[in-house]
Amino acid sequence: MSLTVYLNGQFIPYEQATVPVEDRAFLLADGIYEVTRVYAGRPFELDAHLRRLARSARELRMPEPDLAEIGRASLELLRINNLSDATIYMQVSRGAYTPRTHAFPSGPITPNVLVIARSFTANAKLWETGITAVTVPDQRWARCDIKSVSLLPNVLAKQTANEAGAQEAIFVRDGYAIEGSSSNFFAVLDGEIRTYPACNYILGGITRDVALSVARKLGYTVREEGIPVDSLGRCTEMWVTSTTQEVMPIVNLDGQTVGDGLPGPVSRALHAAMRELL
Ligand code: PDD
Repeated sequence: MSLTVYLNGQFIPYEQATVPVEDRAFLLADGIYEVTRVYAGRPFELDAHLRRLARSARELRMPEPDLAEIGRASLELLRINNLSDATIYMQVSRGAYTPRTHAFPSGPITPNVLVIARSFTANAKLWETGITAVTVPDQRWARCDIKSVSLLPNVLAKQTANEAGAQEAIFVRDGYAIEGSSSNFFAVLDGEIRTYPACNYILGGITRDVALSVARKLGYTVREEGIPVDSLGRCTEMWVTSTTQEVMPIVNLDGQTVGDGLPGPVSRALHAAMRELL
């Protein structure tokens, strides 16, 4: 049976969900998105994802998306497609206009709104083994806090990692390891949990927020401060957080073993506490 998706107010078969070829997300990467996780039929932190979608729209001067409608559509897709463990991808583009121009169209803006829910199961084995990562220079713009579909530097970074046999790339900016190509980066340095502060240079991850609050509840000292690349060798643990990876330990960075080469106690404790919330 074909997957049903939501496009501009309609629930339609995947194959019939099309947008005009001059959609600005297709031509200009002029669009925003969110990825939400669903556990046993229930979306995790859906409201936080919708709020971030609205913020991305505001920052890019797009019309405010109808969050109630997108939220309802998400739940309806889970029901129609009979999904239990899933991801929900939401995308809003500035719409399709002819002819192509860089500046916003002069008339009223009609965004294209897409929601796709798909079955998703995490690769649980990776939480036991941890993953390998490499550092790459951050070639992105200075508004990484906006979750836009303009992801080329992230695409290239992940490809670089994969070609090096690694699963994630960690962006380095001004001498600091700041975030992953599709995740936030954490480390334990001098016994304290460190992660780059939420600012214009990283995406303020929703899993990052959950991990920080769980870490504080568990009594860990947390510093929202950058990790200098020349301190990476002294970090006893590293991990990334994201909607799809939850808390994913990094056991090798740039060919150097992290800690004893196994997921460490802090990331394990955080992940276990987070799993209870889920
Ligand atoms: N990526 N940083 C970047 C650059 C990301 O793309 C993501 C998420 C995160 C983590 O954010 P959150 O915890 O809210 O998922 C951090 C999504 C999952 C993606 O692009 O598929």
